[in-house]
Formats: sequence, structure tokens, C-alpha cells
Amino acid sequence: MRKHWLIGGVAGVLMLAGAAFVQGGPEGETDAGGGDIVQPIAFPHNQHAGNEPGQNNMDCQFCHYSAERSVDAGIPSVATCWGCHQAIPGTNKPEEVAKIREYYEAGEPIPWVRIYKISDHAHFPHMRHVNAGLECQQCHGEVQEMEVLTERSPVWGGDNMGWCVDCHRQPGEDGKQQASTDCAVCHY
Ligand code: HEC
Ligand code: HEC
Ligand code: HEC
Ligand code: HEC
Ligand code: HEC
Repeated sequence: MRKHWLIGGVAGVLMLAGAAFVQGGPEGETDAGGGDIVQPIAFPHNQHAGNEPGQNNMDCQFCHYSAERSVDAGIPSVATCWGCHQAIPGTNKPEEVAKIREYYEAGEPIPWVRIYKISDHAHFPHMRHVNAGLECQQCHGEVQEMEVLTERSPVWGGDNMGWCVDCHRQPGEDGKQQASTDCAVCHY
């Protein structure tokens, strides 16, 4: 009985949350899904992580250095960018590369606009997912083929708890569900 009430309550609140999202979008400087954000530097994922000829085939975790061991995947520091780019001025967009130097010399972090974000009351640990063998692309799309990130990939389902729970319910190798759906695992 209590369980039924709980599930009904969650569905109700989720419907309300859904309505609020359509009207207003999430709070703060995050992408509301509309694709209208502007990054402070036009950082091209494809030139760095793509494996086409002339691209650099860099591992995602070279830059997103903590995905395997921490809750956050991590964003590289301006010193990491400058470490390469002091010797690589850029052949097509040198003006974008020049901005790295400005942030570096000012000792300021690059103010990237956050794209992927869930509500603060829920908890998403990258390391558990990466260590379970999931690919970044399953949740973020083919990032290595993208130019400047201005919106979320359509594969992203993180505006709604159902995306998380549906995958957790899928059977693992032992036939049981592969991850917990207890409320307290994600909400605390
Ligand atoms: C050379 C460093 C570098 C590499 C390699 C790299 N990234 Fe990134 N990534 C960044 C930077 C800088 C940002 C922030 C700017 C932006 O959103 O484009 C970012 C942003 C992202 C975001 C959005 C974060 C947010 O704001 O929510 C995702 C998702 C992401 N990267 C995934 C990947 C994946 C997957 C790969 C491998 C295919 C990869 N990245 C390779 C540097 C890198
Ligand atoms: C491991 C070395 C490496 C790191 C680290 C790195 N880059 Fe790059 N980046 C490259 C290479 C190589 C290119 C291709 C340059 C070219 O084609 O002229 C490139 C291209 C670029 C371009 C496009 C330049 C153009 O002329 O088209 C931008 C902008 C850029 N990087 C920004 C960044 C930022 C911002 C960071 C840090 C988040 C970063 N890079 C980290 C190696 C790196
Ligand atoms: C199971 C789905 C899933 C997988 C797999 C996944 N992510 Fe994420 N990613 C998310 C979610 C959900 C968020 C938002 C987390 C939040 O708001 O707390 C996120 C946020 C991010 C961010 C933004 C902020 C940060 O530092 O965490 C980056 C960068 C990122 N992911 C990169 C990656 C990379 C690189 C990989 C692969 C090594 C990866 N993700 C694998 C779901 C995933
Ligand atoms: C696998 C992780 C996961 C589990 C398990 C889970 N939730 Fe959630 N839940 C989330 C995420 C993520 C969101 C927020 C999505 C977003 O960013 O809008 C959410 C949103 C909600 C909301 C909407 C509130 C709001 O502000 O958007 C309620 C209420 C809620 N969860 C209650 C519950 C209850 C009760 C349970 C147990 C029956 C539960 N959740 C189990 C991940 C989970
Ligand atoms: C594509 C499938 C997939 C998606 C989508 C996914 N997860 Fe998971 N999640 C897993 C798997 C698999 C594990 C189990 C890892 C393990 O066994 O250690 C897991 C584990 C977890 C854990 C640790 C559970 C524990 O028992 O301690 C949390 C918390 C979690 N996920 C939260 C989330 C949230 C929040 C979202 C949505 C924003 C989400 N997950 C989306 C597959 C997924």
C-alpha cells in the first residue's frame, strides 16, 4: 500500500517537474536543450578525439581525467590546454587558440558552459558506470564526431529519472537487474 502511494507520488511530481522543464528549463548556466549556448572558446571535440585522418584520436579520459575514479568526469585545466597549444597555434582558428593563452596568463579558468546536468537532489557517480564497462557514447552520443558542443546529444535521457531506472532494471549477465533501483541509491 505504502509502495503504491510512493510510486503514485513520484509519478505526480515527475509530471510537474516535466511541465516546469518545458516552460522554464533548468536553473543556472546550463543548456536547456535548445542548442543556443555559446562556449567561451570554440573547442572542437572532433579535432582532438576523432579518428578520421588529420584528427588526433585522443582518449576521452586524457582530458576527462577522473571519470574512472570519481563522481565527476572532470574538465581539463587551462594549463593542460596550454601544455599542447603553446606549440600548436592552430591552422584554421588561431584566434580561438589565442584565447587559451589569455586565460592562462591571467591565471583564470576557462568559464565553460555546463551542458549535461541532473537535479541537485539526485546523485550520479561516473566511476560506477565507467567501471561497469559502459561507453561514454551510450549517454553522451558520438562526441568524437562533434565540433563545438552547444547542446545535448539526442541519446541523453537525463532530464527524467525514467532513463536512469530503465537501464538499471535491465538484466545483467546473471539474469538479475544490473543495478539498484532503491530510491536511496540516487537520492540522499
Ligand atoms: C583535449 C581535451 C578533451 C578531450 C580529448 C575530450 N574532451 Fe570532452 N570536453 C573537453 C572540454 C574542454 C569540455 C568543455 C567544453 C565543451 O563543452 O565543449 C568538454 C566537454 C565535454 C562534455 C560536456 C560536459 C558538460 O558541460 O556537461 C562531454 C559529455 C564530453 N566532453 C565528453 C567527451 C568524450 C566522450 C570524449 C571522447 C570521445 C571527450 N569528451 C574528449 C575536453 C576534452
Ligand atoms: C595533447 C595535445 C592537445 C591538448 C591537451 C589540447 N589540444 Fe587543442 N588541438 C591539438 C591539436 C593537435 C589540434 C589541431 C591543430 C591544427 O590542426 O592546427 C588542436 C586544435 C584545437 C583548436 C582548433 C584550432 C584550429 O586552428 O582549428 C582549438 C580551438 C583547440 N585545439 C583548443 C583546445 C583547448 C581549449 C584545449 C584544452 C581544453 C585543448 N585544445 C587541448 C592538440 C591539443
Ligand atoms: C550511464 C551514463 C553516462 C556515462 C556512461 C557517462 N556519463 Fe558523463 N554524464 C552523465 C550524467 C548523468 C551527467 C550529469 C551528472 C550530474 O549532473 O551530476 C554527466 C556529466 C558529464 C560531464 C560534465 C561534468 C563532469 O565533470 O562530470 C562530463 C565532462 C562527462 N559527463 C563526460 C563523460 C565521459 C568522458 C564519459 C566516459 C569516460 C562519460 N561521461 C560517461 C552520464 C554518463
Ligand atoms: C537510478 C537513479 C534513481 C533512482 C533509483 C531513483 N531516482 Fe528519483 N530521480 C533520479 C534523477 C536523476 C532525477 C532527476 C532528473 C532531473 O534532473 O530532472 C530524479 C527525480 C526524482 C523526483 C522529481 C523531483 C524533481 O525535482 O525533479 C522525485 C520525486 C524522485 N526522483 C523520487 C524518487 C523515489 C521516491 C525513488 C524510489 C522509488 C526514486 N526517485 C528512485 C534518479 C533516481
Ligand atoms: C545505460 C545504462 C545506465 C544508465 C542510463 C544509468 N545507469 Fe546507473 N548504473 C548502471 C550500471 C550497470 C550500474 C552498476 C555498476 C556496478 O555494478 O557497480 C549503475 C550504478 C549506479 C549507481 C550505484 C548503485 C549502487 O548500488 O551503489 C548509481 C547511484 C547510479 N547508477 C545512478 C544513476 C543515475 C542517477 C542515472 C541517470 C542520471 C543512471 N545511473 C543512469 C547503468 C546505468
